[in-house]
Amino acid sequence: MSSDTIRRRTVTDATAYVDPARYEDERRAVFAREWTSVGAASRVAAPGTYLSVWVAGFPLVVVNDGGTLRAHQNICRHRSGPLVDDGSGSCGRFVCRYHGWAYALDGTLTSARDFGEEVDPADFSLTSASVATWRGLLFVAGDPTVPDFEEWLGPVARHSANFPMESFEVTHRSSHDLAANWKVYAENYQEGYHIPLVHPGLNRQIDSSRYEVVVNGPATVHRAPTRDGAVTDGAWLWRFPGLALNLYPSGLCLESYWPTGPTSTRVEYTFCFAPGTPADEAEGSVTSSVAILDEDRAICESVQRNLASGLARPGILSPRHEAGVAQVQALVDDALARA
Ligand code: FES
Ligand SMILES: [Fe+2]
Repeated sequence: MSSDTIRRRTVTDATAYVDPARYEDERRAVFAREWTSVGAASRVAAPGTYLSVWVAGFPLVVVNDGGTLRAHQNICRHRSGPLVDDGSGSCGRFVCRYHGWAYALDGTLTSARDFGEEVDPADFSLTSASVATWRGLLFVAGDPTVPDFEEWLGPVARHSANFPMESFEVTHRSSHDLAANWKVYAENYQEGYHIPLVHPGLNRQIDSSRYEVVVNGPATVHRAPTRDGAVTDGAWLWRFPGLALNLYPSGLCLESYWPTGPTSTRVEYTFCFAPGTPADEAEGSVTSSVAILDEDRAICESVQRNLASGLARPGILSPRHEAGVAQVQALVDDALARA
């Protein structure tokens, strides 16, 4: 993206960060059409295990159907009851929690309680969603016809090829809710310009004046040398709209985020470490990631309050620091235009 294009892209319309109608458009144009990671694939490794999650307002259930992963909307075809409660569990079939219609794990209706022949099961299968796994991570999309997963992943696969992700073990998971529009958080993630002001601790470790965000289509690679001049042995990768993957030879931090409303965002962390990683080392890395998130949360929520005030005016982006912000805004615009 050229410097001029970046400068021209500004926070032109604060309503994009508060408007419920805009949120509805973005749910469908962005999050239903893009893949979102919902953590480690080990969550549904055993036959019959399921994971039920809300992603950008879409209630989805991923289930291991005898070794085949399937994703459905967690919405009964009778009168929209839930098939399973939120969270994980295991079952041999889905029995709706409202009136007891039953479905096979592949989504076929097997029994419409007390209805008899007036219900043709072929007319009332569960609505499919999309599911994929990649190197131990689980991804879903609300739309059953999303882009091919490997193609979608693009440069993220290439940049992570040398890390032994499959050998890492999941040790920590956590969810964090932010009172900010998902784009406020995404744009903040995509620049290192704020590091000296917002993350003093991190700023003592890395040379934030040399923080680089290299844009490559819908993905970016972040880089920053440490203060002592050492080259980091990790890869910090991002893929639109909500995937951030920090990889090291000794482990990984998967960060996944999505909107939970027009002005709220869920951030989910999954930490995995190489077998034998000392517990205090793992704990230390989790604690510092969550502390950085808390610092980002505070600034994002302040920005959100200002955007919601009705007084925020168009700004300007730095070609040196904010190419990643321009990238988020351009990708959202493109998705909305395509829809
Ligand atoms: S809503 Fe599911 S059985 Fe009625
Ligand atoms: Fe930050």
